[in-house]
Amino acid sequence: MANTPQSETVLETRGICLSFGALEAAKHLSFKLPRGGRRALIGPNGAGKTTFINLLTGKLMPDSGRILLNDNDISALPFHARVKLGLVRTFQISTLLRKMTVLENVQLAALEQHGRGGILLGGRSAQAEAAEEAFAMLVQLNLDAYASKLVGELAYGIQRLIEIAVALTSRPSVLLLDEPAAGVAPAESRLIVDVIDQLSSDISVLLIEHDMNLVFRFADWITVMAGGAILCEGSPREIAADPRVKEVYLGARTYD
Ligand SMILES: Nc1ncnc2c1ncn2[C@@H]1O[C@H](COP(=O)(O)OP(=O)(O)OP(=O)(O)O)[C@@H](O)[C@H]1O
Ligand SMILES: [Mg+2]
Repeated sequence: MANTPQSETVLETRGICLSFGALEAAKHLSFKLPRGGRRALIGPNGAGKTTFINLLTGKLMPDSGRILLNDNDISALPFHARVKLGLVRTFQISTLLRKMTVLENVQLAALEQHGRGGILLGGRSAQAEAAEEAFAMLVQLNLDAYASKLVGELAYGIQRLIEIAVALTSRPSVLLLDEPAAGVAPAESRLIVDVIDQLSSDISVLLIEHDMNLVFRFADWITVMAGGAILCEGSPREIAADPRVKEVYLGARTYD
């Protein structure tokens, strides 16, 4: 692994700031995600976690500061250009096409990934190739039984899994997961945790999550936000014991 030591940074922000009017939602956020890292971002409601993800993906543009992906400054790039470079997110709210099948949804993502636009533009062999790739992704995530089901007919937790399948089809080097298990029934949330646990170590992951059992099981390092700023960072053990974190967020919560 001489070329890619664990400490190599894949994604970095340098002092990014963003205000919504008088509200400072991002205060000089400086952050580094190592290649292959399993990072959790936690903090109370309104801390600025989703805003930070939106700044990383280009959905929001910072007032100041820089964002680097593999040492390249991507601060000025729009959302789609960042996805092409491997920076991919899932959403808190489902963005799937509910009247299409699971396979078609993932197939569309595969066509997009190969720059072949919509399904109508793809041509028959490109479509067959994309369908094959999509099915292989579903098999990999143990979702092939759902391939021919309409997305709108699936349980919410399974829809969230399909979103992850769509995101993975873009071949991310960095995957940003914003509360992937929020509002999901326990049986399905276990399936989501399994998929996240089994993600390739080639993919660096930043996970926002309020479920502390999931956070402490998943993360090798935790970043805590409060009031638009990074409060502290550390190993799960350090964060669990940090009195500042207890005060702003964890309080009397317990975790395994
Ligand atoms: N587009 C916007 N315009 C104005 N204010 C916004 C906008 N987006 C977010 N905010 C505000 O910025 C702050 C940070 O919000 P954000 O959604 O990033 O928090 P969060 O940490 O993701 O919270 P949660 O855990 O509830 O998802 C909040 O006070 C929110 O109301
Ligand atoms: Mg949020």
